[in-house]
Amino acid sequence: MSSQPNLPSPSRLLVLISGNGSNLQALIDACNTPALPHTSIIRVISNRKDAYGLQRAQKADIPTTYHNLVKYKKRHPATDAGVQAAREEYDRDLARLIVDDEPPDLVVCAGFMHVLSVHFCTLLAEAGVDIINLHPALPGRYNGAGAIDRAYEDFQKGEISGTGVMIHYVIAEVDMGEPIVVRDVEMRAGEAKGELEARMHEVEHGLIVEGTRVALENIKERRKREGGGETG
Ligand code: GRF
Repeated sequence: MSSQPNLPSPSRLLVLISGNGSNLQALIDACNTPALPHTSIIRVISNRKDAYGLQRAQKADIPTTYHNLVKYKKRHPATDAGVQAAREEYDRDLARLIVDDEPPDLVVCAGFMHVLSVHFCTLLAEAGVDIINLHPALPGRYNGAGAIDRAYEDFQKGEISGTGVMIHYVIAEVDMGEPIVVRDVEMRAGEAKGELEARMHEVEHGLIVEGTRVALENIKERRKREGGGETG
């Protein structure tokens, strides 16, 4: 007989990935530690079949799904309108995948290299599921792909003196949602790009855990205000 009061269920994360999954690994390692207490990852979804992050999830006994955009593109003409229609169907089905059975408390984009449409964001918002994203740049700087490369090039040209990493809420405008946590990263003259990337990834691995914890705390506060249930 437990003397403990009924503990609320753990906070439930769903993680979206596209590649190596080192940020996913940081989340896996942090779950149920003081860094990310009472939290579990209920599923990992990748838009790339060969994403090593899928293997990381499987090793951690986390259910995985490969959600493939190509099959949607094959249903539509290879025109701008056709690609747009395919992406909308893809995003709608991705949202259904996430919310239909056991919705998570939070979706974390951890190196997810797919631009989520307003349709996706709306469906998740209607289901009350927040979405956060890791972006290796400071708010409003280097939105989109290749942020580290572009910052490195601008530093070589003397146009910037530093960069950073942020975790932010996801809205339809790429990388422009409200920041949750931001960390400056110094840039060093003569440093090779690979060394900067390594330092950036180190910062990412800590920030994605901190940003996820803060986002979950924000959800708990919001639910208390709304008189809703606990997340864990
Ligand atoms: C990170 O630098 C992320 O910001 C970028 O791709 C990398 C993802 O790395 N979008 P991983 O897949 O988490 O190792």
